[in-house]
Amino acid sequence: MTASIDVAFTPADVRDTEVAVVVDVLRASSTIVTALAAGWRQVLCAADVDTARELRGPGRALAGEQECKPIEGFDYGNSPEALQSAPEAELVLCTTNGTPAIIAAADAADEVIVAALLNLDAILGAVPEGSEVTIVCSGTDGRFALEDAYLAGRLVHRMGGKRTDAALAAEQLAGSYPDSLTPLGQSADAAVLKATGQAADTVFCARESVFDVVPRVTNVDAQVATVSDKDKPMDQAKPLLGLSVLRRTLSV
Ligand code: MLT
Repeated sequence: MTASIDVAFTPADVRDTEVAVVVDVLRASSTIVTALAAGWRQVLCAADVDTARELRGPGRALAGEQECKPIEGFDYGNSPEALQSAPEAELVLCTTNGTPAIIAAADAADEVIVAALLNLDAILGAVPEGSEVTIVCSGTDGRFALEDAYLAGRLVHRMGGKRTDAALAAEQLAGSYPDSLTPLGQSADAAVLKATGQAADTVFCARESVFDVVPRVTNVDAQVATVSDKDKPMDQAKPLLGLSVLRRTLSV
């Protein structure tokens, strides 16, 4: 059980925390989980398109979206299904909300894990007992996204611990749906996927616990967070003692 559990319904709501669990069900976190399960060694989450382009190099492929559509010159869009084989070692991923949310969460947390419905059970086994956890919803353009709040509520329900009001609300919301496809299908993001001919991604991302991977941020700077399925702490351009702990210690 966690010591406490909070939900940030948008990245702007995140407070300092020990463990951040970042979700972007449609589709960035689902894409990361699928890619690592398929054998990509790591995913370099870029803050913006220019950064992603600069990261191009041998052994790397570029994926991502802008307004839900593939980015010109990139090798893949943000469809998880297309990343189920791994012809290169590293995937550079740039998305509108998901990859910036992961970078932002790394600034507020000592440990950052990436969750989707696709790896729900694996995440539940990976969060350290007794830790202070925040589920960070990537949202959509800074606003609440139903599918992220749904997964946040599912995680709260299974993790237990002292819940904030936001965690209680997410848990209640998730409990009101009979299955995961219903909230995902009703979401505004699913409507955009449908309008752009990518409705199959909603069904793909609604599947639960099909991949046993726990993506973790292992390195981060202002523009790029490296995510891999390895149990190693963040090695980053920030002090060994996480910033959040440092801020709490210094009371700033
Ligand atoms: C995002 O990061 O905004 C997304 O994952 C959107 C998408 O997949 O189209």
